[in-house]
Amino acid sequence: MDTLQTIGQVRREWGDRLLILGHHYQDAAVVGLCDAVGDSLELSRLAAASKAERIVFCGVRFMAETADILTRGPDGRACGRSVWLPAPGAGCPMADMATAEALEAAWARLGAAAPGADWVPVVYVNSSAEVKAFCGRHGGSACTSGNGRRVVERLLAQGKRIFFAPDQHLSANIMRALGLADAYALWRRALPDGGLAPGAIRAARLVAWDGCCPIHAGYTLGDVQAARAAAPAGAALLIHPEAPSPVARLAEHVGSTKDIIEAVGRAEPGSALLIGTEDRLVRRLAAANRHLDIRPLRPILCEDMGRTTPEALLRTLTEWPEACRVRVDDALVPDARACVERMLAF
Ligand code: 13P
Ligand code: SF4
Repeated sequence: MDTLQTIGQVRREWGDRLLILGHHYQDAAVVGLCDAVGDSLELSRLAAASKAERIVFCGVRFMAETADILTRGPDGRACGRSVWLPAPGAGCPMADMATAEALEAAWARLGAAAPGADWVPVVYVNSSAEVKAFCGRHGGSACTSGNGRRVVERLLAQGKRIFFAPDQHLSANIMRALGLADAYALWRRALPDGGLAPGAIRAARLVAWDGCCPIHAGYTLGDVQAARAAAPAGAALLIHPEAPSPVARLAEHVGSTKDIIEAVGRAEPGSALLIGTEDRLVRRLAAANRHLDIRPLRPILCEDMGRTTPEALLRTLTEWPEACRVRVDDALVPDARACVERMLAF
């Protein structure tokens, strides 16, 4: 039996006791082996709703940690369910750009600079469990690229000021979409006090940590010019909100991977689309929609998302190596869970 057949057999033996989840940026060979494929928000919801004994996450660590947080009891204890990451080295460089300790220090500084303001943290799910626990501890919510605008809009409508981490571009794109670009301030972690004078902090309605996705943040205005010049006239640009705001503002549609997939689904036959996100997804979309002219804005690949292979999945399903088990520190779970559950309630 080859790898795929063996995975199929093991999968059948486990039945409902196993759930294999995969992110849209996974390789086509892995996508074909998953029970469900989605963006970060959909996968969090599926993990929260799952009763499976074992969840195997074909994605990166923060996604598996989120699944683990959601499948624990409220006090952090395990409830007979476990989460596994076939590629234990699959991280997210953006998540690594913010530590809970550094965020706590910045949080204290924001409070001191604007003592009467009602600050609340919002953290992108692309963050560590420690960072989610920081957020939950201070009454904040997680968000994904799929619901970030809704979360920020609701909190601002309640009169809150937001401390957003780690993605500077997602938060800038949200504030631009809300017509509030002028109320955005960037906290530069390499500078004392984030490089922000107290007056600038008091004037801001959202202060953003200066993390980014090194993959999407690399898009430039030159990429848009070159791609439009090579594409048929009238090609629409669909781009992920982790792209820098000056580039995203040129797009006809800015949205999460799911939003992009849905926009492709609505396109008229014969339409030309330039897609600004991870290339494994762009290639699958092009192959599945031959009636459209789909091209990458510029091919970009997330190395970490590419770490999961069918062989790694097979090893997890047959050997269940301890190195592949994802288990968030019990002490972090209640706060981290509060942060993620607030997001799911939005
Ligand atoms: P989505 O929220 O669109 O799934 O994006 C997650 C991610 O890591 C994109 O780089
Ligand atoms: Fe992280 Fe970017 Fe990879 Fe998404 S594409 S997992 S944000 S490095």
